[in-house]
Amino acid sequence: MQDRVVVIAGATGGIGSALAHQLGAQRTKLVLAARSLPRLEALAASLPTETLTVPTDITQPAQVERLMDQTLERFGRLDVLVNAAGAGVMKPWQKLEPGDLQAMLEVNLQGSFYTCQAAARRMQEQRRGHLCNLVGILGKHTMPLAAAYCAAKFGVVGFSKCLAEEVRRYGIKLTLFYLGGVDTGFWDTVALKVDRTKMLTPAMAAQAIRFALEAEPQAIPLEVNIQPESHVFF
Ligand SMILES: NC(=O)c1ccc[n+]([C@@H]2O[C@H](COP(=O)([O-])OP(=O)(O)OC[C@H]3O[C@@H](n4cnc5c(N)ncnc54)[C@H](OP(=O)(O)O)[C@@H]3O)[C@@H](O)[C@H]2O)c1
Repeated sequence: MQDRVVVIAGATGGIGSALAHQLGAQRTKLVLAARSLPRLEALAASLPTETLTVPTDITQPAQVERLMDQTLERFGRLDVLVNAAGAGVMKPWQKLEPGDLQAMLEVNLQGSFYTCQAAARRMQEQRRGHLCNLVGILGKHTMPLAAAYCAAKFGVVGFSKCLAEEVRRYGIKLTLFYLGGVDTGFWDTVALKVDRTKMLTPAMAAQAIRFALEAEPQAIPLEVNIQPESHVFF
């Protein structure tokens, strides 16, 4: 992974930063993106590798285009996009407000769409690349209280599988990660009773992503499933 250029959207999150540390230890060149510049700079300062920090709101297509342009300007290539940005709202369906649905669709669905499309456009010219979307198990299975979140994450699976078929001819691979609960700040604001000791650790999630990134091109998985012991109480 030493010579690869990896863009991590949501780099300062629990999963994104664990991945940045594991890849950084391998001297992978990292492009770190999220909205908060101070958090990006603190992460970059803690990594033993070459980094570029690009404050980016992935719900804004122009900012996403700038992220990919700056990656190419700095490193001359873009090998991997890891979409680790996102947020969750878990509420009974009667209490979901239009703003809740809008927020879920904007960051989890549209944001992933914009980053994949912008990265794939550059990768198509290179005729190689790897797109990774952290869907979560709620992109494949349903759960009470997760109607808005599942709507967005099921959408990510839909567009990703279409995209994977279209870009395969250009040597671009795509992997969907259906991770169960991962013990990150994601759960701090989610109004759901969970046992965080039963979740995956961010390091485990990062290892699963590295498994796909380090596979030979012909062996890159389209889907990776990891389900920890049940951690949700009803
Ligand atoms: N934790 C889990 O149990 C779990 C399981 C399966 C899948 N996932 C998915 O994995 C991804 C990462 O989850 P996590 O647990 O690492 O979450 P997290 O710790 O809450 O981190 C979220 C990251 O996304 C960034 N972000 C949020 N909104 C953004 C926006 N509009 N533009 C750019 N960056 C944005 C945050 O930084 P800023 O706020 O500074 O922008 C932060 O870096 C999410 O898509 C989540 O749905 C999580």
